[in-house]
Amino acid sequence: MNKKIFMVLGIILVLIIACQKADDVVEEALVSFNKPKHFPEPIYNFSKNPVTTAGFKLGRKLFYDGQLSRDNSISCGSCHIAEHGFTHHGHDVSHGIDDKVGIRNSMPLFNLAWSNSFFWDGGVFHLDLFPIAPIENVVEMDEKLPNVLNKLRASTTYRKMFEEAFGSPEINSTIMFKAMSQFMVTLVSDNSKYDKVIRKEATFSEQELKGYQIFQANCNSCHKEPLFTDHSFRDNGIGENLAKDQGRWEISQLESDRLKFKVPTLRNLNATAPYMHDGRFRTLEAVIRHYTQEVQPTDNLDPILKKNMGIKLSDQEVSALMAFLTTLNDETFLKNTLFQEQ
Ligand code: HEC
Ligand code: HEC
Repeated sequence: MNKKIFMVLGIILVLIIACQKADDVVEEALVSFNKPKHFPEPIYNFSKNPVTTAGFKLGRKLFYDGQLSRDNSISCGSCHIAEHGFTHHGHDVSHGIDDKVGIRNSMPLFNLAWSNSFFWDGGVFHLDLFPIAPIENVVEMDEKLPNVLNKLRASTTYRKMFEEAFGSPEINSTIMFKAMSQFMVTLVSDNSKYDKVIRKEATFSEQELKGYQIFQANCNSCHKEPLFTDHSFRDNGIGENLAKDQGRWEISQLESDRLKFKVPTLRNLNATAPYMHDGRFRTLEAVIRHYTQEVQPTDNLDPILKKNMGIKLSDQEVSALMAFLTTLNDETFLKNTLFQEQ
């Protein structure tokens, strides 16, 4: 009798251990960069910084660590929330350290391996150079990089994680930023209904299909599928805001770049409101109303929108377009716990 109980307990124990092992294996297997078949070749040079599980985990820890800010209170994750497509949901412009406000809406962080420049104005051209910008920005994290490195060096956990990821416990900004890139490039959103339709695993409803055709005729020249951006800078006629943000002009100082902003992706719009570089529109209805009725004749208004002063759509066409846009929401990505703070 006792023997049997021991045997049963033994088997249960073995099963529990096996399950835990399997869990580990699942996570190990997930942490790699896989190009979705229907996506173009990524821009990010993986040969210079291959994604490893240890590098990803280190990058994730850094991303969610308040120590990157002056008073240890603000992490990258404070303004880039995973369940909201890594935006600062509900905030028109971002709120950083000491509750200071910036002038721009936090950007979604996914499919970054295909971007050739970063920020609404493209002011940073390489992801591995990116984290210095928010760390040293006085309204975001307001910390000096040498201080951050000293805080990390004082931690045995970090020294161990750097050793596992890069083979040496030495901590410098180059490898710190590489680890953060490994986390960020792994944030791939490729499992919306749209993706399933493209992969022939699902079909659009009649309404969604109609919306897809309207999208292709009116939006796709800038919000180019399958990433839903062509990564260019354009003026979509929303006009200057109170902060007088000039967009791409701030970087290039070219008159032809005034009020041009990066074309944002349209994936996961259910999670990333409010919209535009200054978060001026709270709803998608307001965005569509802009395109159909409120486009302003700014100097650099994109020729595509200038032709008819916007995009003329009937109410039925607007409903169909909205139905299509919901097929770009990717719950697999938004709910992926691997990308959340551990
Ligand atoms: C106080 C809020 C705030 C914090 C903290 C913050 N960000 Fe951001 N992030 C923003 C805003 C706002 C933008 C858009 C800024 C702009 O265009 O000038 C942005 C843009 C970005 C982009 C560009 C995305 C694209 O598609 O061009 C990346 C990448 C990014 N942040 C990563 C990070 C990382 C990494 C950290 C931590 C080191 C961080 N952010 C901390 C608010 C924040
Ligand atoms: C001429 C290029 C162009 C066309 C055509 C265009 N857009 Fe845009 N779109 C942009 C630019 C540029 C922005 C960002 C503007 C800004 O923030 O100042 C934008 C922003 C958006 C946003 C806000 C996304 C966010 O995360 O903030 C949505 C939604 C959107 N567009 C939907 C559409 C739809 C739907 C269509 C077709 C009916 C369309 N756009 C046609 C260039 C375009």
